[in-house]
Amino acid sequence: MVKTEKFIPKAVEKIKNEIDGRAIIALSGGVDSSVCAELAYRAIGDRLHPIYIDTGLMRKGETDRLKHIFSHMNLHVVYAKDRFLAALKGVTDPEEKRKAVGETFIRVFEDEAKKLSAEYLIQGTIYPDRIESEGGIKSHHNVGGLPSVMDFKKIVEPIEDLYKDEVREVAWALQLPEEICERMPFPGPGLAVRILGEVTEEKLEATREANAIVEEELLDRFCPWQTYAAVIGKGTGVKGDIRAYGWIVAVRAVGSRDGMTAEALELPWDVLRHIQSRITSEIPSVVRVVYDITPKPPATIEFE
Ligand code: XMP
Repeated sequence: MVKTEKFIPKAVEKIKNEIDGRAIIALSGGVDSSVCAELAYRAIGDRLHPIYIDTGLMRKGETDRLKHIFSHMNLHVVYAKDRFLAALKGVTDPEEKRKAVGETFIRVFEDEAKKLSAEYLIQGTIYPDRIESEGGIKSHHNVGGLPSVMDFKKIVEPIEDLYKDEVREVAWALQLPEEICERMPFPGPGLAVRILGEVTEEKLEATREANAIVEEELLDRFCPWQTYAAVIGKGTGVKGDIRAYGWIVAVRAVGSRDGMTAEALELPWDVLRHIQSRITSEIPSVVRVVYDITPKPPATIEFE
């Protein structure tokens, strides 16, 4: 366990010494980048320019929540949904999607960074990110992408030696809101990896709404390590008296320690039925809801 009382002043002091100009950070709303932004803000104040890119692949209400939480900072919000959807057009392979999102992210970030002419880049890389990326399990786009394409005086990684639980501990000590400190993991490529096949606006909307319902029903009551909904295909159903061809939504809720292995939660039947009923009635394009009971391994937590 990291000694937060010591870690915070030390990290702030280190950033202060390392950064003598203007710095940027890609703020995603996850606990890692949020902690880094808050540490850096305490160190260099308005010389920090956090950049938040709304990829259009975010969860419902996420951008507004983030704008509110970080309103005390020099936050730059970039709305770039069209660029991301254009990059994802026709892409069906999961790793290709990650690449498309990652590369577009870098380009949008670069464009914004150029406008700000910052000399320093702060990154929220944590210890397990490095291990998993080196292992080649999945390409996590928050590692290794930005530095190679941009010319910074220095890249500062204030939490590179911390584990996730230590980052959360620091987040609490920094008095970040609970929704950040205890935020469940959300993949960098966002809802794109919760849509099987091509990402379209229509699928994206169904996925976003279904994710919101699943979180509302499960987060507080069952405290899953991670829970979400994915659009996994199309199937036949009956809406009113008419046969309809609509989306199949899969609900996933898992317990885990570190995301390396996971177990599906044994949810009560009435809860699952209620989720099904809400999803199919509130999202007219969905005809079928399934619950994924597969542990990791052999499945991964995300569908893609
Ligand atoms: P899997 O699906 O590999 O997921 O069992 C393990 C954890 O990692 C998250 N995940 C990602 N995070 N970029 C990320 O930043 C990604 O490409 C990515 N893919 C999966 C996933 O949500 C889970 O918490």
